[in-house]
Amino acid sequence: MPHVLIVETDAACADHLATLARFEGCSTAIASSLEEARQQLVFRRPDVVLLDPALSEDSTGEELVDVNDDNSSPEIILMNAPFSIESPVGTVAAAEHLLKPIDVQMVRHALSRIGRTPLAHHDTCADVISLKDAGQGKNRYGRLWGRSAPMQRVFEQIRRVAPTSATVLIVGESGTGKELVAQTIHDMSRRAGQPFLAVNCGAISAQLIESEMFGHEKGSFTGATRQHKGYFERSHGGTLFLDEITEMPAELQVKLLRVLETGTFMRVGSDEPLASDVRIVAATNRVPREAVECGRLREDLYYRLSVFPLATPTLRERPDDVEPLCTHFLDELNREGQTSRTLTPGAIARLNAHAWPGNVRELRNVLQRAYIMAESDEIGAETLRFDDEPARPATVQPGGAADGAMTVSVGTSIAEVERSLILATLERVDGDKRQAAEMLGISLKTLYNRLREYGAARLDEIRVESLRSATGTA
Ligand SMILES: Nc1ncnc2c1ncn2[C@@H]1O[C@H](COP(=O)(O)OP(=O)(O)OP(=O)(O)O)[C@@H](O)[C@H]1O
Ligand SMILES: [Mg+2]
Repeated sequence: MPHVLIVETDAACADHLATLARFEGCSTAIASSLEEARQQLVFRRPDVVLLDPALSEDSTGEELVDVNDDNSSPEIILMNAPFSIESPVGTVAAAEHLLKPIDVQMVRHALSRIGRTPLAHHDTCADVISLKDAGQGKNRYGRLWGRSAPMQRVFEQIRRVAPTSATVLIVGESGTGKELVAQTIHDMSRRAGQPFLAVNCGAISAQLIESEMFGHEKGSFTGATRQHKGYFERSHGGTLFLDEITEMPAELQVKLLRVLETGTFMRVGSDEPLASDVRIVAATNRVPREAVECGRLREDLYYRLSVFPLATPTLRERPDDVEPLCTHFLDELNREGQTSRTLTPGAIARLNAHAWPGNVRELRNVLQRAYIMAESDEIGAETLRFDDEPARPATVQPGGAADGAMTVSVGTSIAEVERSLILATLERVDGDKRQAAEMLGISLKTLYNRLREYGAARLDEIRVESLRSATGTA
């Protein structure tokens, strides 16, 4: 079993790292000073040292490494503070270079790599996380992106609550990232290797929800042809995310409360209690107190759930996050599509000026649409369509038929585009069906068939139709 020595002045941070390292199958020791670290080194030689750079910057820090600078030296992982990236990694022969606040995925990656190739190799500085990645480090926490003060507070709350077993109630508008926060709490907890199940309490029928939640025994009701394991059993050891908790039927809220209080539950049709080892994270986009007042959420359950309340801020409260989120989503799209599209300054200005009623989800949709519609690698302001702008029906721009241009909006069906194109083409050639069919690349018969479908067999009818779509009149 690889042994990890954590040299860290911040006790909470050290505990968090120790939990992670144990999860990766390592044994751990913690030292809060170099003095203690030296004692630990004598006691048991580590394979890996996670080193706080605040301690390594003076000469004694290097001395700690020098003492072991032989073939069996441990790997040194420097946990750099975000703004001291350029500290001389080489001088302490660090094999990896991590960023605070701790990026769990990176620690995991580093530890698992070391687990595979246990002892030191000082030439692995190529693995040092690049300056570019480091720059992004202050823009994100796990899967969550954002550099604004409100998001930094969310990150700090997650960092503190994740390693505990406290129940968390996440409250925030739709699209603010509640599910992503729940997932991040799970990722950062000691349950990370276990299941994370997300259940939308509003999407399961009232008849089924109890058996979906707690499972049922064979024959417990008509149609129960075999035993069924519910969400509680399937997320055993992990985290159960109860989304839209206020939509859970009242009688089930009582049962959930009982599970939270006793730590046990029963399958439908059984009276044998089963132990529940599940961390509950719940979410709602309603104001919980109002939900209690109007009887949607039981008050006792509310108090039990909100041991640790966490509010996800709206995007309009944190305009500083618009740009890093755009960069993140566009990077994802570019990676997927092997492209290198960028936003023009005009597009960025328009994105910054928008109020984002649909929050991060809307921003993601807007970028995805713009990415698809972009005609070149530059995504301009005119390509952006926001969620609150209704999808425009297919239109032939006024005058378009004359100059041969036709504008089609995203969200238009292919059938609608085809119809508009056929009518605009006929208009262009003054109703000459043979010429229109030739231009459209279809047979004359197909053209007649389409026109029959449109119920506009006579040309004057077609003209009226075509003019209507051109001017947008009904
Ligand atoms: N901080 C963030 N960084 C990166 N992506 C984010 C962030 N916040 C939200 N997202 C993305 O935005 C979308 C919406 O997020 P999520 O589903 O977590 O919102 P929600 O609050 O649960 O919304 P709803 O109440 O409608 O269920 C997802 O695609 C998610 O990945
Ligand atoms: Mg959600």
